[in-house]
Amino acid sequence: MEKIVINGGVPLKGKVSISGSKNSALPILASTALFPGKYRFTNVPDIQDVRTMLELLKILGSEYTFKNNKVEITSIKLNKDEAPYDLVKTMRASVLIWGALLTRFNKAKISFPGGCAIGDRPVDQHLEGFESIGYKTTINSGYLQSYAASAIGGSFSFKIKSVTGTENLILASIMGDKRTTLLNCSLEPEVDDLIKFLNSLGACIKRIKEKIIITPVSKLKKQTKSYKIIPDRIEAGTFMYLACLPKNELTISNIDISALKDVIMTIKQLGAKIKQTTTSIKITAPSKIKPLRVETNPYPHFPTDLQAQLMAVLILGKGASRIKENVFPNRFIHVAELRKLGAQIELQGNLAKIQGIKSIAGAKMQASDLRASAGLVLGALSAAGQSEIFRIYHLDRGYEGIDNKLRAIGAKICRTKE
Ligand code: EPU
Repeated sequence: MEKIVINGGVPLKGKVSISGSKNSALPILASTALFPGKYRFTNVPDIQDVRTMLELLKILGSEYTFKNNKVEITSIKLNKDEAPYDLVKTMRASVLIWGALLTRFNKAKISFPGGCAIGDRPVDQHLEGFESIGYKTTINSGYLQSYAASAIGGSFSFKIKSVTGTENLILASIMGDKRTTLLNCSLEPEVDDLIKFLNSLGACIKRIKEKIIITPVSKLKKQTKSYKIIPDRIEAGTFMYLACLPKNELTISNIDISALKDVIMTIKQLGAKIKQTTTSIKITAPSKIKPLRVETNPYPHFPTDLQAQLMAVLILGKGASRIKENVFPNRFIHVAELRKLGAQIELQGNLAKIQGIKSIAGAKMQASDLRASAGLVLGALSAAGQSEIFRIYHLDRGYEGIDNKLRAIGAKICRTKE
């Protein structure tokens, strides 16, 4: 295993270009299993989760090439309907193959994804949704086995908004027998990117705010011109908070400003100076970081996937801040690690109370999940002296070439064996 060693407290300046979106690429790649065809994509982030999804598709029988952020997939020979435990356990987003396989084969067998470091993470909404549109599921030896039990289509209202739940229901109903209406759907731009891609293949999916109507089609296009994945708003947000740390000044490009409204609002509230276009933003760190009160909530509100990174900024705030985590209430494992830097954070259930301090000092920290790792990297970059971050494979799941991007703006960062 590898660790990252950071010598922090060095001002970071320069330009960062944001890669394609992980959470958009994953469902879109999974959707290539829907129908036998040949598909091409650009702006695909070269990260471990994408490689895991491509491997899963290969195990199912697809063939792919992945080079220079371009993916070509042929799903003509895809002939298996089972997502094995070994892959699902490394990446929860493997559940996205469930809906696609149900459409392709009318049945699918998926290893039960179980919990992860950010909480219990049930799939009851996926299950109930599938049931409402005509699929039955049994649980056997750790596997979820679903099959079409009646005409596919109907309506379902999500009790809790679920991003991959919404995507799975779209995938499972796209070529059904009758119309499907989904209510209280997730509004995340990644769901819209999936809809846009599927409609470019000839699907008929309409969104009216939180309502999504899927009129089934009998086939999809076998080939499309290359499809470009949207920019990763969470990677963008991570670098935007990095820019807010003392003495930093970054220009972050290849972003979609419209998907970052709540995040930009917090950047302004922190006291940072910003200059923006529709696809880039220049952020100059404030001389004093202002404290904040923030709650995480589904899009368009402040994302849970940026909670740890914002916390890494607020630990240096001038005063007391609060972050309430409403999406994954247990997503605070990074707090114990940030405390090692000297951060003063008190936890009360899903509320983190942060008392800002003037400076922090490097320490050895353990990464627990993808976004927590990003929070620890931000902490280490602003802490005086040396930090070591272990289990860094979590970071590689979702940030393309992060060491190189950080080195290019002046960070003293290297990777060695643990
Ligand atoms: N939930 C249920 N039942 C379900 C599904 C969800 O109770 O059947 C609950 C979850 O436990 C959670 C809430 O609903 O409390 C929202 O979860 P959601 O299903 O929306 O999360 P997800 O689809 O599993 C996606 C992203 C996550 C991101 C969340 C929230 C992908 C591949 N993953 O997960 O991204 O945190 O939405 O925005 O799109 C990450 O990129 O690091 C990451 C974890």
